[in-house]
Amino acid sequence: MERTVVLLKPDAVQRGLVGRLLARFEEKGLKIVALKMAVLSRALAERHYAPHKGKDFYEPLIRFVTSGPMVLAVLEGKGAVAVVRKMMGATFGSGAEPGTLRGDFGISNRFNLVHGSDSSEAAAHEMALFFRPEELLDWQPAAWPWIYDFSSGDAV
Ligand code: RTP
Ligand code: MG
Repeated sequence: MERTVVLLKPDAVQRGLVGRLLARFEEKGLKIVALKMAVLSRALAERHYAPHKGKDFYEPLIRFVTSGPMVLAVLEGKGAVAVVRKMMGATFGSGAEPGTLRGDFGISNRFNLVHGSDSSEAAAHEMALFFRPEELLDWQPAAWPWIYDFSSGDAV
């Protein structure tokens, strides 16, 4: 099973969308492995978005993601990285498909509600950046045997 990092950005928290956004991931069958709130320091935000340093949107992006509380989560499931990216939709709310989180809940080209790791390498890096190992909980959801077919051993 794969793990991925999801951040509900300050606009999601300020707009009262935390419950609805988390519900979409839960409904999909993704398991919440870690969950907390934090206001990112500038240093942490810069480490997270280091690949974008120097781009014209970098400064406003750092200001945005440090502007208030965020929800930080680790989600687990089969192909979780790609599944979450697909559920989030395209980067800009104005162009994101209906049915996706960004498509359904936002229209801005900056305030786009949610972040998801874009590769399993990025997920591992971001997990270490935002969480201590003991914050990641190993647990078995009661619904797990009805979310996957485990009859042949592996989750199918
Ligand atoms: P994220 O990293 O937040 O999950 O978003 P993403 O992969 O869909 O998009 P990415 O290209 O990594 O960009 C990171 C964040 O920077 C803002 N952005 N602004 N041209 C622009 O003005 C622009 N491009 C990107 C967005 O907030 C995006 O989520
Ligand atoms: Mg990105």
